[in-house]
Amino acid sequence: MCGIVGYIGKRNAYQILIQGLHRLEYRGYDSSGVAMIAENGEMNIYKAKGKVDALEHYASNKDLSGNIGIAHTRWATHGEPNDVNAHPHFSQSRNLALVHNGTIENYSVLKEALSQQGYEFVSETDTEVVVQLIEYIMQTNACSLFEAVREAAKQVVGAYAIAVIEKSNPDRIIAARQSSPLVIGVGEDDFFLASDATPIIEYTNKVVYLNDGEIAVIDRTEGLNVYDINSNDESQICITELKMSIEELEKGGYPHFMLKEIFEQPKTLTDCISGRISADGSQIVLSGVIEHKEKFLNANRVIIVACGTSWHAALIGKHLIEDFCRIPVEVAYASEFRYCNPVVREGDVLIALSQSGETADTLAALELAKSRGAFVFGICNVIGSSIPRATHSGCYIHVGPEIGVASTKAFTGQVTVLAMMALLVGQMKGLVSDEKLQKVASDIRRVPALIQKIFEMNDKIENLAKIFTYAHNFLYLGRGYNFPSALEGALKLKEISYIHAEGYPAAEMKHGTIALIDNDMPSVVIAIKDNVYEKTVSNIQQVKARGGKVVAIVTEGDEIVASLADYVLEVPEISECLTPLLTAIPMQLLAYYIAVNKGRNVDQPRNLAKSVTVE
Ligand code: AGP
Ligand code: GLU
Repeated sequence: MCGIVGYIGKRNAYQILIQGLHRLEYRGYDSSGVAMIAENGEMNIYKAKGKVDALEHYASNKDLSGNIGIAHTRWATHGEPNDVNAHPHFSQSRNLALVHNGTIENYSVLKEALSQQGYEFVSETDTEVVVQLIEYIMQTNACSLFEAVREAAKQVVGAYAIAVIEKSNPDRIIAARQSSPLVIGVGEDDFFLASDATPIIEYTNKVVYLNDGEIAVIDRTEGLNVYDINSNDESQICITELKMSIEELEKGGYPHFMLKEIFEQPKTLTDCISGRISADGSQIVLSGVIEHKEKFLNANRVIIVACGTSWHAALIGKHLIEDFCRIPVEVAYASEFRYCNPVVREGDVLIALSQSGETADTLAALELAKSRGAFVFGICNVIGSSIPRATHSGCYIHVGPEIGVASTKAFTGQVTVLAMMALLVGQMKGLVSDEKLQKVASDIRRVPALIQKIFEMNDKIENLAKIFTYAHNFLYLGRGYNFPSALEGALKLKEISYIHAEGYPAAEMKHGTIALIDNDMPSVVIAIKDNVYEKTVSNIQQVKARGGKVVAIVTEGDEIVASLADYVLEVPEISECLTPLLTAIPMQLLAYYIAVNKGRNVDQPRNLAKSVTVE
């Protein structure tokens, strides 16, 4: 996912912009750039393919003066990653500079029309069309930059967060958004602009979230004004005071954000649960559910749409909701759901599950379901992100910013919220007794301490990783609640170590996949004491009989599997429905240490972005 940073005030803009781009690196990108209006009135644009360091190197001997500027990290959608396609983009007169997150669906039509008006394009991007369109409107209508941006926003189709500066008017930044996030930081006597709060928080904790369909004028003297793009009505400005500290953003002494976030899980799950389970464990409080009780009580069906790790959490959510609420649950890849003309009706509850709250496919899927009458409920992590703002209700997982591209604490946070939601709705429907709720709720409260106990195996897992660092393939096998866990364990390994790994239902092995088993195909098998434990034990025997190495994740004290498997990782006993919260931890650590041994860029794996805000 790309990023935008902007600044206007009394300080040197470049220093704030470049630091802001570094803060946004975690989102994944392929190139970056800055534009400042210098003290001599010139508009300077510097951009470079690759990392922000490359941009800094390129700009190091240039004019970096000026107290107004915009900057961008690009994740290419139209035009390969290179210096020319990087943002900011100039208008033809070089009076305007623009940065853009998102995709313009009708850019080719607009480009053709502008070309016929004599405009020439230097890049392959859809973004350059926007800045040229704005200039065309300014010149044709003899209007201000604000009016031109507003008009252009009505003409473009697609997702955008844009920021524009004008050489001939260095006292304001114009910003607008539709389906791509923008946050404005309100300083003492300056303003900051970014795709999320991380570049802003070290300067101010006062932020304004721009809503879809809004345009902001950030003026050096007149301050901040926000308008509705279509009606031009002035919007009420709502300033949010963020609690996120800069420390949360630092690695806290860990070598990687991912390891920090794995070890944060006892705390983040404590935060996730906080205020949601009564002290005696008899009550679950999720206000977003309680306020819409009838929607859940009368739900014909629940649909959960998600991507990646969130889709794995959704599969666990299916088990939980069907177990406790006896409501049929369909789990769909958001990218499939949005294009398969799904049957969605009044009475359906759709849950959009997303850490970032910005995943384009998930956002589109919920919009489709909403348009067809579903009640849409968001379970997200990033406060104020697009998905929570598009849903009827929801709840946050409150695990703090997840910087590492590989999702870890967000996964356990999502499963925890889904467990609490299933218990609460089950109790509302009279299907979960007070005793059952109390038992499972008290187990949920134990999870942070149990995860802390699992960390005692850290060194063992680090050593185990050395054995498998050079494996070329891996199988992850699980059943029931832990089949999704196996899928998640495989994804963790794949996405950070680049070793091919496949999650599979353990029983399904004999229908083909077992042909892969040999001494070079290790398997991680989740064999906790659940209702299919004996079946899983025999699956392990089948793998061993074909020479496969087995790393088994078992319930503490298990001796049967210990006598069969090559390596055993024990997790404490807990209610079966909560075991994915524990079995995830050894697999997160195993993937992490293997990737580190392979010298991978663990926090920013190749080709990946923290959130896929484009299709
Ligand atoms: C998981 O480790 C990956 N980062 C990726 O699969 C991610 O879960 C997916 O892109 C969905 O992101 P979201 O939860 O922010 O919607
Ligand atoms: N679609 C634009 C491009 O390809 C912006 C991509 C992004 O969001 O970074 O340049």
